[in-house]
Amino acid sequence: MPHYLEEQDSHVTKIAVLGAAGGIGQSLSLLLKTGLAPLVLRSPGSHVHMAMYDVNRDAVAGAATDLSHIDTPVSVSFHAPDDAGLERALTRAQIVVIPAGVPRKPGMTRDDLFAVNARIVAGLGDAIAAHCDLAHVAVLLISNPVNSLVPVLVERLAAHGAEQAARHVFGLTQLDAVRASTFLRDALGSDSHDMPLVPVVGGHSGDTIVPLLSQAPGADALSPDARRALVHRVQYGGDEVVQAKNGAGSATLSMAYAAARVTAKFVELQMGLVPELHDTLYVQLRDARGRLLAPGAEQVAELVPGVEYFSVPVTVTGKGVSHVHGELLARMDAHERAQLLPVCVKNLAANIRAGQEWVAAAP
Ligand code: NAI
Repeated sequence: MPHYLEEQDSHVTKIAVLGAAGGIGQSLSLLLKTGLAPLVLRSPGSHVHMAMYDVNRDAVAGAATDLSHIDTPVSVSFHAPDDAGLERALTRAQIVVIPAGVPRKPGMTRDDLFAVNARIVAGLGDAIAAHCDLAHVAVLLISNPVNSLVPVLVERLAAHGAEQAARHVFGLTQLDAVRASTFLRDALGSDSHDMPLVPVVGGHSGDTIVPLLSQAPGADALSPDARRALVHRVQYGGDEVVQAKNGAGSATLSMAYAAARVTAKFVELQMGLVPELHDTLYVQLRDARGRLLAPGAEQVAELVPGVEYFSVPVTVTGKGVSHVHGELLARMDAHERAQLLPVCVKNLAANIRAGQEWVAAAP
């Protein structure tokens, strides 16, 4: 297995996974190694390469060597800090997925991770600015607290002169929608194979997570108490895993599943198999100078005054976010609009401010 890719071929779609030896990183890399194969087989002449980077050299070398024995046409390399590994992982990467950082232990909130993970993510942001094409790269951030670290990353890249950084940095909040879908099916007692889709907007932490049950099929059959319990379970579902692991970390397998689904969409886009992708992603709606991310951002910004960043349905093309969709928000019911959204906005604003203040004070 090559230690790193010397590939110059412009037909290569290269994904860098930073933090690839961790619980999420390893599972995600397995899902990409196996799950992306059909895309490659559908596109003669194409090539997908996955560069796995981690500060834990032995762990990333072991995981990548192990994965490289799987018989799918997705090539793998590993990289560690010695030997300019981060530069090699990032050079010519069009998609960067970041699960690097510390996970929660029982009793911790995602905000308790902030100081450690902000330093890690800012450092990785500096390397992305140095080695990636900022006009085209897509950076998918998993590390928590997503609410604060996406601002850290966007503003760090902007400080390196990436004017359009906000169009290329996405916080991954999909696990909340995955959980919402599963938990709604549980609550309905349904044994159907069709999972009800539940739109989830806002942030990725406690009551900043806003499941829009008003727009989920079947949810109107639930009593008000059952709806309240379901919203709470979606908002705090991550705690179930943290408690069950009892000190050994937080969700890894379900997160890897959620991240692999989104990453595959970005790979399809990069390979030219689709002209655009649609998903719900945590993005900057409006920057400090009042510049809007893309058409549609103004409508969303008006519905959530006071927060610059929000997880909302977007359209993404090869040039980054091309449209922000506020239709779901505009259709919220009275409870979502008057109860859930104001709490979300208040707490999310504080999380965003923490990230911005950290960047402003950082060396
Ligand atoms: P983990 O501890 O198993 O893995 C983290 C990996 O990052 C380790 O292999 C570590 O060596 C590596 N790492 C640390 N510093 C690094 C650096 N500077 N560069 C490259 N790699 C570095 O943690 P796990 O469970 O994989 O979680 C990772 C992050 O994802 C945590 O912050 C966690 O809170 C977050 N998370 C996010 C979710 C979401 O929905 N967005 C859901 C679940 C977890």
